[in-house]
Amino acid sequence: MAATSMDQLVSLCKRRGFIFQNADIYGGLQGVYDYGPLGVELKNNLKAAWWRAIVYERDDVEGLDAAILTNRAVLHYSGHEDTFSDPMVDCKKCKGRFRADHINGKCPNCGSTDLTEPRPFNLMFKTAIGPVDDGSVFGYLRPETAQAIFTQFKNVVDSTSRKLPFGIAQIGKSFRNEITPRNFIFRVREFEQAELEYFVMPGEDEEWHERWKEARIAWWEAQGLKRENMNIYTTPKEDLAHYAKACYDIEYQFPHGMEELEGIANRTDYDLGNHTKAQDELNLTSHCHENHESTQKLCILTDDNKWVVPFVIEPSMGVDRGVLAVMTEAYTEEDLGGGNSRIVLKLKKHLAPIKIAIIPLKKNNEQIMSKCHELKKELMKLGIGRVALENTGNIGKAYRRHDEIGTPLCLTVDFETIEQQPETVTLRDRDTMEQIRIKTAELKTYLRDYFME
Ligand code: GLY
Repeated sequence: MAATSMDQLVSLCKRRGFIFQNADIYGGLQGVYDYGPLGVELKNNLKAAWWRAIVYERDDVEGLDAAILTNRAVLHYSGHEDTFSDPMVDCKKCKGRFRADHINGKCPNCGSTDLTEPRPFNLMFKTAIGPVDDGSVFGYLRPETAQAIFTQFKNVVDSTSRKLPFGIAQIGKSFRNEITPRNFIFRVREFEQAELEYFVMPGEDEEWHERWKEARIAWWEAQGLKRENMNIYTTPKEDLAHYAKACYDIEYQFPHGMEELEGIANRTDYDLGNHTKAQDELNLTSHCHENHESTQKLCILTDDNKWVVPFVIEPSMGVDRGVLAVMTEAYTEEDLGGGNSRIVLKLKKHLAPIKIAIIPLKKNNEQIMSKCHELKKELMKLGIGRVALENTGNIGKAYRRHDEIGTPLCLTVDFETIEQQPETVTLRDRDTMEQIRIKTAELKTYLRDYFME
């Protein structure tokens, strides 16, 4: 069974070094978290799995790594300056501020009904750019990675000669000044997104929207999420983001409820239409911001020599939410009988922060220790990921520790290893706890196959 309370995860994350509150020693910074030694591995592995599926295993997607600092014009023409806000109400009694759509006319803090009228609160972080901080020259920290994909559309097309359909993928930080960050790393002010903008012929958008929905559900299943713990929510028209014609949310059963993990939106020609010059010549279907500043036409030549502004399908995943989801799903408390139990993080092996832990049966035995160091050196060069030498506590404690952080394999060097020929070690499987003995001469091939399959 997966984690049922956020406290289970928060406690494991701190105890084992996955995720820490930012600026913990100063009381923290609300809505901001840091990934510790294991968290950074897990998060990197999840991002690598996304990049592999979206870029390496397809031949119709290019990558991009654009800047976080964003020219104001980009977020003006994108519509974010005007519309990227939540309606907020203030409680006149306790002075709390809440999203109007999250309360029922009553302050969730003190119960008062003496509230202000809803007012828009902009979610973007504004920042001074350059040496003068008098408010005249500013930009934003991007609120989504998507906009740079739209503004670099022409450069990517010109430099790669892509034809429709094709996509541009990007992973990176985004920032939103959430009024009420909450639920651990679920709703935070600084977060990471993995976004694909997939450009298609107008008219083929609805078909591609369905295809991407199916592809993304399958990908989440390959990351270990059970289909029955996901829900596909079709956003009602009145709740759509300002840029979307239609949107599916892949929701996941987090400890705090069924909530959005990834949005898959049909953004039509709205974004390229907003950022293009010569809007009048391009038969745009969206109601776009009038733009006389852009220097480029953001359109593409079709096979029959027509210039079109493509429609965009956007699968947009929250990486931090992804980390939370795979941890929730993997978290298992197992009763081992006889009053014993264990916590085991049944992560898919490609996501596990540490791939293999080398454990000496006796840490005060020189020969055993030296064999452990020798094996570690060799296995570190295999390219399978992190290899740890675990020489704290006794062997039982070492197994428990690695069960809890999701290490798929523990390798033990014991007396048989150093006393008998051919040389062998034991390998213990995290989930079944079964052990096999394997010749050290066969170890590299075994591990390569195990982690590459
Ligand atoms: N690009 C979609 C989002 O940030 O929600």
